[in-house]
Amino acid sequence: MELTIAKIGDPVLRQPAREVPEKEIVSEKVQKFIDDLIETKRAAKGAGLAAPQVSVLWKIFVAEVDGSTRYSYKPPIPLTVLINPKITFLTEERFENFEGCLSVPDLRGVVERCPEIRVEGLDREGKPIDQVMKGITAGTFQHENDHLNGTIFVDRVKDSKTFCTWEEFKKHHENEFHRQVKIIVAKYGS
Ligand code: NI
Repeated sequence: MELTIAKIGDPVLRQPAREVPEKEIVSEKVQKFIDDLIETKRAAKGAGLAAPQVSVLWKIFVAEVDGSTRYSYKPPIPLTVLINPKITFLTEERFENFEGCLSVPDLRGVVERCPEIRVEGLDREGKPIDQVMKGITAGTFQHENDHLNGTIFVDRVKDSKTFCTWEEFKKHHENEFHRQVKIIVAKYGS
C-alpha cells in the first residue's frame, strides 16, 4: 500500500524515531510496513525513504538506486532495508553533495557529507548488517539516517545561496555537479 509522504513543516519530520524492538522485526506489522515503505519509495522515484517521512517514528529506512529513480548520476544501490542503524564516520574528509528530499518538494541544495562511513544495523530479517559505504552512496545513507533524528538536508546546507529548484538545477548546476560526481565515483568506487 502506498503511504502518504510528509512534507517539510509537518512536525513528524522533526521528531526522533524510536528503535524497533528486535523481536518485533519479523512481526506482520513491521514486515507489512517495510513493504509499504519500499512501494512508496519506488512510486515516488526516490533514492531512499525513512519511516518518519511516512509519519511512522520507527528507526527504519530503505535505500535503492537503479535506472528508475529521479537521479541519473547516482551509482546503483541494491535494495537495502536498515533497521536501528548506527553510522560512524571513518574519515575527516568531506565532499559537497547536491541533495533533494521527497519531503521537500522541488528544492535542492549543497550539503557536506562524509565519503567513508561504517553502517551498522539490522536487515528486515533481523540479521546484522555491518558495511562500509563510500562516496555518493555514503551520502545517501547519511541523508536517510538524518531523518531518523529529525534532521532534514536543509538544516545542513551551509550556503543558502545554493538552494535551487529542479528546473534551475538542471539549467545552471547539473553539468558541473555531474562532473564532480564522476570524480567522487572514480575516487571511492560508488
Ligand atoms: Ni529525505
